[in-house]
Amino acid sequence: MDYLSINKDTWNKRTKVHVESAFYDVASFKNGKCSLNTIELKQVGDVQGKSLLHLQCHFGQDTLSWARLGAKVTGVDLSADAIEQANLLKQSLGLKADFIESDVVQFGRKNTQQFDIVFTSYGVLCWLSNLTDWAHTISSSLKVGGEFHLVEFHAFNDLLLGYSYFPSNEPDIEEEGTYTENCDGASSTVVTWSHSISEVVSALIGAGLTIELFSEYPYSPYNCFDGLELVPNLGYQMLHKGKQVPLLYSIKARKIA
Ligand SMILES: C[S@@+](CC[C@H](N)C(=O)[O-])C[C@H]1O[C@@H](n2cnc3c(N)ncnc32)[C@H](O)[C@@H]1O
Repeated sequence: MDYLSINKDTWNKRTKVHVESAFYDVASFKNGKCSLNTIELKQVGDVQGKSLLHLQCHFGQDTLSWARLGAKVTGVDLSADAIEQANLLKQSLGLKADFIESDVVQFGRKNTQQFDIVFTSYGVLCWLSNLTDWAHTISSSLKVGGEFHLVEFHAFNDLLLGYSYFPSNEPDIEEEGTYTENCDGASSTVVTWSHSISEVVSALIGAGLTIELFSEYPYSPYNCFDGLELVPNLGYQMLHKGKQVPLLYSIKARKIA
């Protein structure tokens, strides 16, 4: 079965729904609102004049937010429709960015450019079968001294949602709607893989990167799972037996040599 084509088709369908959603709020973005959250803004820091590769950029709001902050950006995504929407958004705002339609691993095999920063966030790893290849894409796309930044949903919460914590060669194949409020119940096939935290960290170390920061967070900026509750000024939390579940983690890693 061609899992990549199945997910590509799903993300093409989702893109149409997402650009019209309150969740992504394109109108506010066009009016100047930054789509990035405090976690990544603080972790990545000043991007002025830096080259930044955004892997799995979806339809480009975060990529273009980094461009507004002064970065020279390139976004990569599997979905042709997402890349088309990203280019439309870029043109309507008069911003500079390169958007490339590609699977992350295929991009890594062909790419010859090296960047100051590689960034990826929120719901990216579950779509990838092989983190060794993913980490190689990151390492080969970084200049020596360059930084990788990941902000991702926590695998501990995936376990509570009924997925495996530990990786398996066999993916989960499900029929699912999407996470935006305007999903009308229409579902499509999603093929996802579980990745434990140690698998992520080991893949990055194995690709020659040095981990400089690892953080975990009990709040998510996004209301995208069942059972989340809003805590004003902090975000959404999930309680398990009255205790906070880790919802996000972030990693900063550097290519030393
Ligand atoms: C949840 S979204 C990323 C979230 C992003 N932070 C956002 O909300 O704008 C996941 C993205 O990964 C992309 N994707 C899935 N599999 C991929 C692959 N193998 N290579 C590149 N992109 C992929 C999808 O097309 C989708 O745009």
